[in-house]
Amino acid sequence: MSALVPLEWDSRLLGLSCARLEFAEECGLGPRAVASAVGRAFAAGASAGVRAELVAAKIQPEDCDVRMLSEEAPDRRIVALGREWTFRSPAGAFAGPLPENVAFARAANGGTDPVPFLPLAADMRHSRYYLDPDVGEDRALAVWEASITGHCQGFAQEIAVASLGGRPAGLATIHLEDGAARLHIVGVLGWARGRGVGARLMRAVLARHGEARAVTVEAFAENQAAVGLYRAVGFSPVAEHVVLHFWRRG
Ligand SMILES: CC(C)(COP(=O)(O)OP(=O)(O)OC[C@H]1O[C@@H](n2cnc3c(N)ncnc32)[C@H](O)[C@@H]1OP(=O)(O)O)[C@@H](O)C(=O)NCCC(=O)NCCS
Repeated sequence: MSALVPLEWDSRLLGLSCARLEFAEECGLGPRAVASAVGRAFAAGASAGVRAELVAAKIQPEDCDVRMLSEEAPDRRIVALGREWTFRSPAGAFAGPLPENVAFARAANGGTDPVPFLPLAADMRHSRYYLDPDVGEDRALAVWEASITGHCQGFAQEIAVASLGGRPAGLATIHLEDGAARLHIVGVLGWARGRGVGARLMRAVLARHGEARAVTVEAFAENQAAVGLYRAVGFSPVAEHVVLHFWRRG
């Protein structure tokens, strides 16, 4: 059954109660079935005391009809934030030369210093926090600074750090799961962009994990730099979702 799952970290950082909609078997059954499931999830959440002010959801485009969703969740205001693509690495071993000047820091060894990468927090414009005006710039910035800090200091099992001219220039944070390596934060500092640092980072991740695992990363379709980067290193989109925020009215 679809359900509201409380998001404690988001709630703390944003200063409002947050949850995400988790779908069960309804995905792919069409917009009517998915809208009904959303309605039931909100009703069950309310009965269980999950009265989140902000609920985030990702719905496949063919299942997403905002009008139907509004009918099933009348006490919610819906903000559609855009389409997100999930990219997956090409199958098989990485064939190119091993990229230089990329180091892998492990959480088990203390991670890496987040401070050089904090300026990236202001650049994560293509994220649901920045894309929703009701979250606001200040909160979006605070969430990203905390996220970069947390990932560098242990939340991500590994952090790939690329340098340029001896300075930290870009990072990719890596969550390792059975058969998969999920990249969460990928960013290159403004001064180092357009000089191949992002491609170097991605190729280093592929060389390390690409043979044994599917490497995946998500990007909003409008994020031309990220989409261009992932395609340039051989990734292709394997899923598409509409990203929505449901705000409680009143
Ligand atoms: C996305 C990002 C990591 C790219 O890093 P980068 O070091 O500038 O990328 P590279 O110089 O290695 O570029 C590699 C390829 O990516 C593509 N690319 C990079 N920037 C691009 C842009 N602005 N527009 C279109 N394609 C772009 C190109 O195909 C490029 O190859 P080319 O230079 O041979 O044309 C960087 O722009 C960034 O940090 N953006 C802000 C944070 C962000 O949005 N992160 C992604 C979240 S999913």
